[in-house]
Amino acid sequence: MTAWTLRAFDVLDSTNEEIRRQAEAGAAEGLAVLARRQTAGRGRRGRAWDSPEGNLFLSLLLRPRVSAAEAAKLSFLTAVALAETLELAAPDLASRIACKWPNDVLVNGAKIAGILLESRTGADAGLEWVVIGIGVNLAHHPAGTPYPVTDLSSQGTSVEPPVFAEWLLARFAYWHNRWQAEGFAPVRSAWLARAQGLGQPVVVRLPGGELHGCFAALDESGALLLDLPDGRRQAITAGDVFPVG
Ligand code: BTN
Repeated sequence: MTAWTLRAFDVLDSTNEEIRRQAEAGAAEGLAVLARRQTAGRGRRGRAWDSPEGNLFLSLLLRPRVSAAEAAKLSFLTAVALAETLELAAPDLASRIACKWPNDVLVNGAKIAGILLESRTGADAGLEWVVIGIGVNLAHHPAGTPYPVTDLSSQGTSVEPPVFAEWLLARFAYWHNRWQAEGFAPVRSAWLARAQGLGQPVVVRLPGGELHGCFAALDESGALLLDLPDGRRQAITAGDVFPVG
């Protein structure tokens, strides 16, 4: 069982950056950092992450004794914990909460939360640390994004970030324990039960172009399995997935 040590800050550059500093200084697994706002919040692929007060900015430090490929699956575990926490906060939205491959959480088809995993590999190729950064739009959402976004308060529910953080840490600990005891399989099933677009036509945008197909499954490595029009099944390990039609 992970026992969390939660440190709360008024303002940080980035909670992921604070965890990185603490990890490099020797902090133990289980440190959680919460900030009321961030001045340099970061998202996936080098994008900035809008970080106004009222939203959740939380990062967790883990030191898993697994390969980097295995640790990458922590993003699915986090998405499931996030979806469950949103359901706890807003039970009426339960059927509207979905996990979007690889690591977003949606409400009513719009992004409400993002997850950013960062890690450091040691000299022996083992992982020194993993930081799991979680941003949830509780009170605000950015304008002008190329995809739909929302926040919990626009969906009719107000929750203070520290309260949401406590609930999320509990759900994360539950799934982290199961992952350690049983491996990825139960996480994978829970994620698939909430997967957006499963069994439906999707387009996958890759750096080099687009692939159309049917979102068939998630494999044991966390790759999205896409059934292509020519009958082949392709494993997608990176890219953005959008529903078609
Ligand atoms: C994404 O691009 O979807 C991932 C966004 C992750 C944002 C969170 S907010 C808390 C933590 N600190 C950061 O700088 N980023 C993550």
